[in-house]
Amino acid sequence: MSLKEKLREILSFVVRKREDMLLCKDLTVVSGLKSSGRLEVVPMHVGHLKELVEFIQEHHRETARSLRMLDDCFRNRYEGRVALLNGSIIGYRWWVTSAIPHPQLKLYGVSLLDDEVYAFGLYIARAFRAQGYAGEFLALTQKQLVDMGFKRLYNAVATSNVPSRRLYQTFGSKELGLRVSRSFFSTITFCDGRWLRYNPVWM
Ligand SMILES: CC(C)(COP(=O)(O)OP(=O)(O)OC[C@H]1O[C@@H](n2cnc3c(N)ncnc32)[C@H](O)[C@@H]1OP(=O)(O)O)[C@@H](O)C(=O)NCCC(=O)NCCS
Repeated sequence: MSLKEKLREILSFVVRKREDMLLCKDLTVVSGLKSSGRLEVVPMHVGHLKELVEFIQEHHRETARSLRMLDDCFRNRYEGRVALLNGSIIGYRWWVTSAIPHPQLKLYGVSLLDDEVYAFGLYIARAFRAQGYAGEFLALTQKQLVDMGFKRLYNAVATSNVPSRRLYQTFGSKELGLRVSRSFFSTITFCDGRWLRYNPVWM
């Protein structure tokens, strides 16, 4: 490897350019996503903690960062849902309401109204992907959010995340705009003239 290539590699480790798309879904409009009836979506609670830690250790590549995120979510009282298949966790997702601040809201310039939520951290274990479970998870969560009185759901997706963008397109989310940011050591982000502590696993 030439010196120039080595320098470029080091620089790309320190500074990463991120392109995220902010999406919005009108929850009153039913999505075309189907439910197999096999998946169960239940509120996340401390009783899930042990199984979630084991799930992350088994299924996540960036285990330490994902465990930190889990800790952050419980500590900040973010609302979570787990996807259960035959009683075992195969995925999860988090959200915040207007009552709870989240660093990504600043990053994407979202100010939530009382009937809006911002969701993040959607994850389906690799072994269960491309079988429609994420779509089913979104459809079941949408029903729960509507029953709770919410009308609009925001989330962000990296423009490079093709499966996720397809998923949200089918779900009926509309693309609101692109945010380009620069992330230093993957955790400190510079966007729109501001510095923010930001964990990219929170997408
Ligand atoms: C994104 C993710 C949740 C999708 O889960 P999934 O259960 O595989 O999704 P589904 O099976 O419901 O499929 C959703 C769409 O993605 C497409 N898809 C699934 N895997 C794909 C792949 N490897 N490449 C391209 N498209 C893919 C499906 O075809 C489907 O699109 P379609 O309805 O047009 O056919 C999952 O890949 C994941 O957890 N990834 C890691 C974390 C992540 O990226 N989270 C999203 C952050 S915004």
